Amino acid sequence: MFGKRLGVNVDHAATIRNARDTMYPDPVFVAMLAERAGAHQITIHLREDRRHIVDRDLQLMRETVQTLLNLEMAATDEMVGIAVEIGPDRVTLVPERREERTTEGGLDVAGQQVRLKAIVAALQKAGIAVSMFIEPAAKQIRASHEVGADAIELHTGRYCDATTEDERNLEFEAIEEAARLGVEMGLEVAAGHGLDYSNVGPIAAIEEIEELNIGHSIIARAILRGIEEAVEEMLQLTS
Ligand code: PXP
Repeated sequence: MFGKRLGVNVDHAATIRNARDTMYPDPVFVAMLAERAGAHQITIHLREDRRHIVDRDLQLMRETVQTLLNLEMAATDEMVGIAVEIGPDRVTLVPERREERTTEGGLDVAGQQVRLKAIVAALQKAGIAVSMFIEPAAKQIRASHEVGADAIELHTGRYCDATTEDERNLEFEAIEEAARLGVEMGLEVAAGHGLDYSNVGPIAAIEEIEELNIGHSIIARAILRGIEEAVEEMLQLTS
């Protein structure tokens, strides 16, 4: 209906795998199934502490993903080296703190333009398109343009976490305005973080947004949808 590109973030399949150090569920296989279901892109975050996606997942997904591979990563020398070696289709630069539960807040592009400009150039030289995961704020959009980014991904966390209708409306308007400004500046605009089946509708209806990256709610829905079949299969083996 809206024609957005859907990036499916499979990090949390890896979270479940890593909780027991098993081989399953393999996020590489989950990515294949997501593509089979029609996902337009696979998104993964290789964190410094490798708490979910690990280097082997990235390497294998580079070989197996048939759509687009979007690597979310911190703007560090280590990560730039890995990205240049592996060659995802896109890198989304995100802020990263070890102690955070998930990516909290957008990247402060305006506060580190010189450093980020060099990183963007290095990635682009390797044929990788670069997106900046930022708050929906004019200052950050202008700075993203300034450092030569190809795209921005607007952080929808505050919209998703809003507890009153007024607050949600304000956050929504900020995203709408930011998307407009991004397109005006020639940037491709994506959005993501915290989007679920109940709150995605208005964001998907924003014309200027081309892409949505969604993970946690999809993996959670997959568990709810699949639990009965999984129990039935186990009962067949045990009853
Ligand atoms: N986009 C970016 C840049 C992210 O860091 C994340 C979380 O890894 C997502 C999208 C997906 O967020 P969620 O798992 O809340 O759907």
